[in-house]
Amino acid sequence: MAVARVALEHEHRARREDRREVGAVERVATFDPGHWYEEHTDDVERIVVRGGRPLSGAVPIAGAKNSALKLMASALLAEGDHVLENVPRIVDVEIMSDLLVSMGVDVRRTDEHELTIRVPADVQPEAPYELVERMRASIVVLGPLLGRFGEAHIALPGGDDFGPRPIDMHVRGLEALGASFETSHGYVHARCDQLLGTRVLLEFPSVGATENVLMAAVRAKGTTVIENAAREPEIADLAAFLNRMGGQVVGAGSSTIVIEGVDELVPVRHRVIPDRVETATLLAAVGVAKGEVTLEGARPEHLDMLVQKLGDMGMRISPCSEGLWAAAPTRLRAVDVATLPYPGIATDYKPLFVALLSVAEGVGIVTENLFAGRFRYVDELVRMGADVRTEGHHAVVRGVERLSGAPVRAPDIRAGAALVVAGLGAEGETVVADAHHVARGYEDFGGKLRALGADVEWWHE
Ligand code: UD1
Repeated sequence: MAVARVALEHEHRARREDRREVGAVERVATFDPGHWYEEHTDDVERIVVRGGRPLSGAVPIAGAKNSALKLMASALLAEGDHVLENVPRIVDVEIMSDLLVSMGVDVRRTDEHELTIRVPADVQPEAPYELVERMRASIVVLGPLLGRFGEAHIALPGGDDFGPRPIDMHVRGLEALGASFETSHGYVHARCDQLLGTRVLLEFPSVGATENVLMAAVRAKGTTVIENAAREPEIADLAAFLNRMGGQVVGAGSSTIVIEGVDELVPVRHRVIPDRVETATLLAAVGVAKGEVTLEGARPEHLDMLVQKLGDMGMRISPCSEGLWAAAPTRLRAVDVATLPYPGIATDYKPLFVALLSVAEGVGIVTENLFAGRFRYVDELVRMGADVRTEGHHAVVRGVERLSGAPVRAPDIRAGAALVVAGLGAEGETVVADAHHVARGYEDFGGKLRALGADVEWWHE
């Protein structure tokens, strides 16, 4: 197997010999992807939080995971050296690097937050099961592979464990452009001669389907119009990257994206937008722990609805020259929250709201409209003394004065982070097991919370 030359190591990648706290990220020269995963799946990682300290100070917001992964995939569209700045040091970026490397692409971390991606004239257009299984977002190589090479073989995705996550809209959109699909042995095989621009009406504003159709359509012949497109800031970032490469994309960030196909794209340098989910997580941390923080580089315009909702709960949040300033002076008030596609409240914020409501005054109802079964972490919060009842897509959260620290388990990235957030306001010690989930999406999460005065340690056994 090819050896990835991405040089990074996350805080959870410390030695196992002795139980010790994991601090800064170490850089390594090379690693073998297979070996690397083995280490991670074997690892026992825990985040230990001792609650009760208010937060104060300033921390930088990392580049957006959900943008970086798509930009890395879309580099496949042009031969040559692409440079991505502000790429977060997280496990999912490693997995995407490994995927590109397995196709014959050279990926190097040329600076702490910079990736250089050298795409050759030809690649192996395949996403193997070992990698797709690790990260569902691997499916986003489908569009660029079809757009440039007319062929893609993608293992059917697994990913986070919260209900079925089909790819029918991706397939339908790409079929409309002229691709044909067949499924065998757990793989989707896609082929096309020349993609032809057309109107693609998405049944739902799926982020992944919008991205795959967009990345394929930049190389189609003629005009493609995506209607009911997802409007997430990460899609606007992807379109900005594609336009810099020579693409002609108009309207990304709105429900209608118009793409004029071009014959060739060129490699470019691009800076990843800041991560709004990390920003939301740190805002929730202040809401639970109280205090006052500045989130450097955060983009308030990507967080409108969230800021409004947290304001309704009693937080004070305002844009400042560094990014975003936030304070939670007193106990928050309960509100109702429903997740919706952007600009609505993101489904990724939902566990954070459940954590916030657990200690707010009053009763709040949280409704999940995007993914079924994303309430598994609720049982963990209940173990911490939260009063939450779930029924179908709803959670009814009755705020209690204080949670009490307990051993809990992180079921996925965001829920894991939310359990840490809950622990910040709990009495005593909360130990969050399976912390490797959190490392998939957060750069130096423990370090950032510590910088804000929290008592958080990341243990590796
Ligand atoms: C992306 C984000 C994820 C976020 C989600 C919604 C990445 C890597 N992940 O995921 O963090 O929670 O957007 O904001 O960017 N669906 C179908 N058929 C399809 C595609 C989607 O039924 O072909 C359904 C999904 O099962 C889900 C809903 O549509 O219920 C939304 O999915 P989608 O917007 O595609 O999310 P992802 O791109 O997977």
